[in-house]
Amino acid sequence: MLYDFTYHNPTKIYFGKDAMSKLPSELNSYGKNILFLYGKNSIKKIGLYDEVKRVLNECGKNVIELAGIKSNPSYAQVLKGGKLVRENKIDFILAVGGGSVIDCAKAISVSAYAKGDAWQRYWIDFEDVDNEIVPVGSILTMTGTASEMNGGSVITNEEVTIKAGRVYGPEVNPKFSILNPEFTYTVPKIQMVSGVFDVMSHLMEQYFSGDDDNTTDYVIEAVMKSLIKSARKAVENPEDYEARSNIMWCATLGLNTVTGLSKTQDWEVHDIEHQLGAYTDCPHGLGLAVISMPYYRYIYKEGIDKFVRFAENVWGVDTTGKTKDEIALEGIACLEGFAKELGIPLTLRELGATKEMLSKIAESAYEGGGYKYMTHEDILKVLKECF
Ligand code: NZQ
Ligand code: ZN
Repeated sequence: MLYDFTYHNPTKIYFGKDAMSKLPSELNSYGKNILFLYGKNSIKKIGLYDEVKRVLNECGKNVIELAGIKSNPSYAQVLKGGKLVRENKIDFILAVGGGSVIDCAKAISVSAYAKGDAWQRYWIDFEDVDNEIVPVGSILTMTGTASEMNGGSVITNEEVTIKAGRVYGPEVNPKFSILNPEFTYTVPKIQMVSGVFDVMSHLMEQYFSGDDDNTTDYVIEAVMKSLIKSARKAVENPEDYEARSNIMWCATLGLNTVTGLSKTQDWEVHDIEHQLGAYTDCPHGLGLAVISMPYYRYIYKEGIDKFVRFAENVWGVDTTGKTKDEIALEGIACLEGFAKELGIPLTLRELGATKEMLSKIAESAYEGGGYKYMTHEDILKVLKECF
């Protein structure tokens, strides 16, 4: 059944090869002072930096730049951005990059005028934002997180080794996001497959919980199938527009709340990965891939009918003469095969984790889950399997 819900997603999406032509009219809706936020080098390499600067100049904006936003953005960078916002009376934050840059923009947006300790209040205590929120817009260059169409902001506080995710209300969503699949052609293969697995994981986190007949689960299966097909093609040919455009939209749909609507969800793989990221700084999607298969093998019996459905409907597993356990495990094996096909490393060791880190990660990750409540002890057992 569908539980009662209110659906409101205010982000305007401009999708396609011509999407950048919409930037001037969007920018003209906001004041003169722009904080232009981006990562290390990639947008300069692909010529997007020059293009954005040209548009900003033509729109007559005063531009303050904050470059070097790192993957797994740090709270120190958020504080730096907040200071720039206050000093320059910033009217609008333009984020150009992947999920890290967009998450950081949203974090600056909510915290620049926060009273007190924004980290503690907003990322740890989950308080409502009670201060001015600076509007954000984005130009996406790397697909995976769906940060372009949600209120999520995942930030690492390096001082306390905590990577914390917070999903804010729709007032924090980007006002608009420009999605041109061609901008993603240059993403290195390892980052591309990290993004693909991130999308797959978002879909699974929402799917593997609850047993009712829910339209959302059918939508998730359809998005998973499109993603799997297109990811295989994009690995062969990174400039396959059809594949790249499908992956881009699968990613946005994967966490713009449509695929989580009105159903219970899991999110334990993400909760564990965030702490893995805090300790190793590994690419988010790769961390998810390493944890997923051991995690699902650990919990599948508690939600076996859904794992059987996953095997049949997503991977086309032939169920003839097989037990539920065999079918469920074959579905998880298909998922593992897919990760291997993409060339994703599947041990924690390869992502830079050490044995000593495992108990620290397990202790600091949230307890919880979907079909099974995961205690710190359970989490440690799964991490040992991943090592
Ligand atoms: O820094 P630059 O030079 O831009 O390089 C980036 C970065 O090294 C590169 N890149 C991006 N676009 C490129 C490109 N390289 C060549 N060509 C291009 N067109 O890719 C690297 C990774 O970028 P990043 O933004 O870090 O990746 P992603 O989009 O996967 O974002 C990861 C962050 O998002 C958080 C993760 O935890 C992580 O911190 N998440 C955010 C969520 C949300 N807002 O809802 C949910 C997710 O579950 C996730 O937790
Ligand atoms: Zn994710």
